[in-house]
Amino acid sequence: MDANTLLTTTRSVRRKLDLDRPVEPEVITECLRIAMQAPIAGNRLGAIRWLVVRDPELKARIAEPIRKVGEAAQREYGHLVAPRSLESAKFLLDNIHRVPALVLACLAGRPGGGNAEMTGFYGSIYPAIWSFQLALRARGLGSTITGYHLFGHEEEVARVVGIPADSTQVALLPVAYTTQRDFRPAARPPVEDITYLDRWGERVS
Ligand SMILES: Cc1cc2nc3c(=O)[nH]c(=O)nc-3n(C[C@H](O)[C@H](O)[C@H](O)COP(=O)(O)O)c2cc1C
Repeated sequence: MDANTLLTTTRSVRRKLDLDRPVEPEVITECLRIAMQAPIAGNRLGAIRWLVVRDPELKARIAEPIRKVGEAAQREYGHLVAPRSLESAKFLLDNIHRVPALVLACLAGRPGGGNAEMTGFYGSIYPAIWSFQLALRARGLGSTITGYHLFGHEEEVARVVGIPADSTQVALLPVAYTTQRDFRPAARPPVEDITYLDRWGERVS
């Protein structure tokens, strides 16, 4: 797959996750090794930690708060989301415990401070998370960034899998092979409408 195709067709996969096909641990390790080549703020070199959860009992315990928060959010905001996306999100919530691997992307330390500090914090792991998703896609696997349990249940999940209090969970990614190979680019705002030249509001072309 060429780079442009990979970059434009790596989607958040939920309904097309193959829940019955096992994922080899080495494939995840290989994708994480690639992910670690992503940029990271100089003062956070060495701060990234990944936790790959494969144990069915642990996955079931992690799934509980995710489902609770996700279903409550869907009840409140579901009407604002396209029906297709809502169905897809519902499928993931109903089946998250069955996804072969749940990967927790973590950073040593806790977020705080102003814009610069927060940018340096979350910006030190999101490039790696995206690289991980791209590497998975290149190998026929799919994933989605999720943050449901971070709404009030981060500590509960930390206790289940032993994450220390001074580490921050940034995202949880369900990972599985996909039941479909081809994905299409998503609808996004035209870049000409959101890109300015020299002065804010002045169009590039
Ligand atoms: C910071 C962040 C948090 C997200 N949290 C969730 C989530 O909790 N649940 C979910 O189903 N998708 C989540 N997503 C995925 C988005 O919903 C998804 O990227 C969006 O629907 C666009 O779809 P696409 O990635 O296929 O283009 C998150 C994405 C980002 C970047």
